[in-house]
Amino acid sequence: MTIARRDFLKVVGGASFAGSLGGIALPAAAAGASVPNFGFSDDSVPMNAANICPIPLSVSEAEAKYARELDLNLSPATRSRIEALKEDARTRIARLLGTTADELAIVRNTSEANNVIVQGMPLEAGDEIVLWDQNHPSNSVAWDVRAARSGCSVRRFSVPTGSGSVDEVVGLFLASVTDRTRVLSFTHISNITGFRTPVAEICTAIRQKKNDIHIHVDGAQSWGAVAFDLGKVDCDSFSGSAHKWFMGPREVGLLFVRERNIGRIWPIVVSVPWGADANAAPKGARKFDALGQRDDAAIASLGVAAALHENLTPAGVQKQSAEIADRLREGLLDAGLPFVSSVNPQFTSSVIILKAARENAIQLVTEILKASGVITAAVGGFRMSPHVYNTADHVDRIVAAAGKSRALFETL
Ligand SMILES: Cc1ncc(COP(=O)(O)O)c(C=O)c1O
Repeated sequence: MTIARRDFLKVVGGASFAGSLGGIALPAAAAGASVPNFGFSDDSVPMNAANICPIPLSVSEAEAKYARELDLNLSPATRSRIEALKEDARTRIARLLGTTADELAIVRNTSEANNVIVQGMPLEAGDEIVLWDQNHPSNSVAWDVRAARSGCSVRRFSVPTGSGSVDEVVGLFLASVTDRTRVLSFTHISNITGFRTPVAEICTAIRQKKNDIHIHVDGAQSWGAVAFDLGKVDCDSFSGSAHKWFMGPREVGLLFVRERNIGRIWPIVVSVPWGADANAAPKGARKFDALGQRDDAAIASLGVAAALHENLTPAGVQKQSAEIADRLREGLLDAGLPFVSSVNPQFTSSVIILKAARENAIQLVTEILKASGVITAAVGGFRMSPHVYNTADHVDRIVAAAGKSRALFETL
């Protein structure tokens, strides 16, 4: 047994795994909460939340109902009722994230949220932008484009997935920042390795070193997956997509901008919701979602997804997803398969990636779907991202299938 496996089992060994063939077993925190119904069939089970989640029937039915109500009667009364549901969704999500509705913009996806920060940040020639090298293109290439426009420089730094301690990782973030740094932008949980950064510790340490840096956190892989309190994580902005772990409507995203930054960041789209003149900006972070006509029914249905998280509790969702992911990690380690992702519990997440060459990973997705009925992805290697709708049976099926296809993985 390797050291990594021993460490992993020390932590996982005590956890009570309650998933079963019969469906989702709720964690204690959510006992009594109602289990969302997704309706997918047993031969096409999604395990790809890092890309896109199925939408629970309660959310998709609400979305269809709101759309129908609008279609049947597009009167000002119907429209303002749906508009009020959108504001209710904003308030509920803010509460779940430990912030206020005035600090939340409802945009289209994480890419757009990241780009509000990238394009809207006041930067001058010579300013330095520091990026984690595992960022998504919308938080990486987008900065290169911005830097070219404004004469800024971009510097990237690495964090080995084999890092041994939180202090070591925080130290690498601290070392990346210089006197010229104006922006530090990184991903809470990487989509290409599954590495979970110690986001609170990083923000605190950076603030102590240099207080005037804008810290942007891409939360595409964490919003809806892990309990996250923006009152305790001292970032300046945070982004996410409802269609990933939040299990919400498609093409709805989130941008948190802390109150102190709202005035100085420029919007990237200004349309009717803005108001009649330049000074008429909507209240708070709403200035970043002053797009033209939106899909109001989809945004309103966000409130139903928020109710689901209120019911399960963010800590309950995190626990359930982590228990499933831990079982998967343990099974894959037992099978002797090669990990891209860290197995150090300080940095693990529900995004689990095994080493495979790109063309092999694509073949693995097809072979494993055929053998196990579970849908995965070829990102960063062979990627599995289980969520609360996955069971022990799904995990066991995929572990068995991965073992049979072991020739397609890189050798250890
Ligand atoms: C870390 C991260 N950031 C941003 C995105 C972009 O998300 P979207 O396509 O919803 O804009 C993704 C998508 O996978 C992601 O993993």
